[in-house]
Amino acid sequence: MNDNLHTLRCFGCGARHPGAEARPDFRCAACGDLFEVEYAGWSQRQGPNRPNPGALKWLWRERRCSSESLDQSGVWRFRELLPILDNFGNAVTLREGNTPLYPLKRAAKALGIDQLFAKHQGMNPTGSFKDTGMTAALSVARERGFEWVACASTGNTSAAMAAYAARAGLRSLVLIPDGKIAWGKLSQAMDYGAVTCQLKADFDGCVKVLTQIVKEAPIYLLNSVNPYRLEGQKTPAFEIAEAFDWNVPDHLIVPGGNLANSSALGKGFREMYELGLVARMPRISVVQAEGANPLARSFANSDGAKLEPVEAHTRASAIRIGSPASWRKAAKVIKDSGGWCLDVNEAEIAIAKAELGSEGLGCEPASAVTLAGLKKLRELGRVASGETVVLVLTGHTLKDADYTIGFHRGNLLTEQETAGYKAEIEGLRRDAVNVDATPAAVLAALKASGQ
Ligand code: F0G
Repeated sequence: MNDNLHTLRCFGCGARHPGAEARPDFRCAACGDLFEVEYAGWSQRQGPNRPNPGALKWLWRERRCSSESLDQSGVWRFRELLPILDNFGNAVTLREGNTPLYPLKRAAKALGIDQLFAKHQGMNPTGSFKDTGMTAALSVARERGFEWVACASTGNTSAAMAAYAARAGLRSLVLIPDGKIAWGKLSQAMDYGAVTCQLKADFDGCVKVLTQIVKEAPIYLLNSVNPYRLEGQKTPAFEIAEAFDWNVPDHLIVPGGNLANSSALGKGFREMYELGLVARMPRISVVQAEGANPLARSFANSDGAKLEPVEAHTRASAIRIGSPASWRKAAKVIKDSGGWCLDVNEAEIAIAKAELGSEGLGCEPASAVTLAGLKKLRELGRVASGETVVLVLTGHTLKDADYTIGFHRGNLLTEQETAGYKAEIEGLRRDAVNVDATPAAVLAALKASGQ
């Protein structure tokens, strides 16, 4: 770990420590808050430690043509902005990042917005944005000589951790809420060889158990309280800025669960701004599911100053989190950037997911909250038609095929949930039909479909 170039700064009380002195639970000994990785001199406008923006942009573009594995990673391609390792040869990579930015033409038209894009983080090697953070933090674990790594998860973190641990030859321990994660994700943890424990608890309960375990055993914690995860997860901000030729979009919309991703993307944009790579910050808004909305409530009740945990319920299982660890960081990003935090209900999530699907972009329900949130922001007059908006899609559609099939078969939502949305839902449902194995029967089915 490169303690010459970075320190850990407590987000609550500002205390600074070398990275090697972090406690196993990554909480500040003085105030209990989380840490952020800080690089000396970056926030001053001048000084010897500041990288040269023009040279960096050139170098990062050149690396896209390189055949070196580190250069082919969309995280380590930007390694000058995450100097957390002593030796970049210790990086564990699955060629994560470099994910596509797709125009969303139909949704843009329906919403009356000129420029709408989806940054599809589900196109990472294990199918979620977690890979970008995992390559960073797991590389630190390897460099520090840990044999075991662990996380509590709603599924995607565990899939990513298990894969990267397997690549590095480390052992991994996964704690998941029993029966509450999507099969695709559970199957990945098993396949990549993790010790997978299903606990009779929710995600927040799994976090509590694991926090005790890492204090008692030499196991490296890879939940997003680990500040090195955020160093990797900030890199999609660099990719987005690069894709717009270093003119940042007006508005970025991110799903909110444990609230690390929004924090990380905010950090990425802030650092680019401070280093002179971009001229401004985008607005960053966070969208939660109505049944798992502690930050949205916090903004409604106290402008993001206080957070009351909730008992979380949503079919978007990835963001079924009632006590988000990084809420203070996310609240600051939202406020500093002039964004909003809002929530959307189960029908709105399902409809938005099907609409994205009908544009050929599958995603997890947790990712679809972004489009549902944008519709609300547009209705509230908070997004102007001339703005450039980017939705961050966080997970691949195949992670949770049961959800998609349930929607199209018409048995996902309750009567109560669909009230007021029936026509929209019926317009989007495409159930499979059983048909005799004859051309005539298939042609009749085609005619009956009305398409
Ligand atoms: N989208 C997906 C697909 C996720 O898996 C998660 C979080 C989020 C959004 C929310 O991101 O927590 O940084 O606000 N999944 C975690 C997990 C908690 O264990 O896989 P966040």
